[in-house]
Amino acid sequence: ETYSLILTEQRGRVGIITLNRPEALNALSDAMGQEILTAAKAYDADPGVGAIVITGSSRAFAAGADIKEMAAKSSVEMYQLDWFSVWDALAQVRTPMVAAVAGHALGGGCELAMIADFIIAADNAKFGQPEIKLGVIPGMGGSQRLTRAIGKAKAMEMMLTGRVMGAEEAERSGLVARVVPVDALLEDAIATAAIIASMSKPVTMTAKAAINAAFETPLAEGVKLERHLIFSCFAMEDQKEGMAAFMEKRPAEFKHR
Ligand code: HXC
Repeated sequence: ETYSLILTEQRGRVGIITLNRPEALNALSDAMGQEILTAAKAYDADPGVGAIVITGSSRAFAAGADIKEMAAKSSVEMYQLDWFSVWDALAQVRTPMVAAVAGHALGGGCELAMIADFIIAADNAKFGQPEIKLGVIPGMGGSQRLTRAIGKAKAMEMMLTGRVMGAEEAERSGLVARVVPVDALLEDAIATAAIIASMSKPVTMTAKAAINAAFETPLAEGVKLERHLIFSCFAMEDQKEGMAAFMEKRPAEFKHR
C-alpha cells in the first residue's frame, strides 16, 4: 500500500503511523482519514504487530478536520457521504493504539488522539475543541470522549469557549497518561508500545475490549463481561505459558506476540 498523506514504519512489533501533511498542520482531510484507517487495519490484521503508535510532527499532531474541505458542504451531503464515519471505523481497531501528541491537537486532532487508547503528550502539546468558533461542534466523538475523559465542567468550558488546554493541565485532568519532553516523545511512545507488543496480542486485545466496555455498560454488566473475558483467557496457550513462566521464575515466551 502506498500513502501520500501519512508515513508508515514498523519498528519491531510496533506499527507507526505518522500524519504527514505539514503544510496544513496535518489537517485531517477525508483522504487522510481513509489512509489512516487502511494503515491501522493492516496493522490490526498483522500478527507481527502488537501495538500501534499514531503521531504527527513536533509542531502539530493535527490542527483539526480540514476546514477548507468542509466549509462549503451541505448538511444533506454530509448525511449522504456519512462524513466522519471513517473515524468510527478507526475506533473499532482492536490492536492497542497509543497517540504520541506534540503541538496542536485541536478539533478533530484532539478527537483523533482520544480515539487512540491513551495519549502520551509532549510538554508543548495543546488540546482543544475550538469548533464553536467556527459555528459548529465536534463531529468525531469529541463531545462524548472529552466529557468521559475530563468530566463535565472542563469539557463544557472547553467546548463552549474554545479554550485550549496545555499538557500539564491535560495530565492533571486525566486526558493524557503522561507528559514527556517533546524531543523524547516518539521514542517514549514507541518504547511504551513495545512493552504492550511484548505481551500476548489476543490478551492485550481482550484488556482493551474490557476497558472500553466500561464506557458502554452499567457496572454489573461490565463486571460480568470482564468475567467472561478472563475465563476466555484461560483457553489460550499464553495464559498457561505466562503462569508457568512465573512459577519457573523465567520470562514468559508468549506464542501470540
Ligand atoms: C484546514 C488548516 C487547518 C484546518 C491549519 N490549517 N488548520 N487547514 N483545516 N483545521 C492550515 C492553515 O490554513 C494554513 O494554510 C496552514 O495550515 C498553517 O496554519 P496557520 O494558521 O498559518 O498556522 P499558525 O498561525 O501557527 O496557527 C496554528 C493554529 C491555526 C492555531 C493551529 O492554524 C488554527 O487555528 N487552525 C484551525 C484550528 C481549528 O479550528 N480546528 C478545528 C477544526 S474543526 P495556508 O494555506 O493558509 O498557509 C474540526 C471538527 C470538525 O476539527 C467537526 C465539526 C464539523
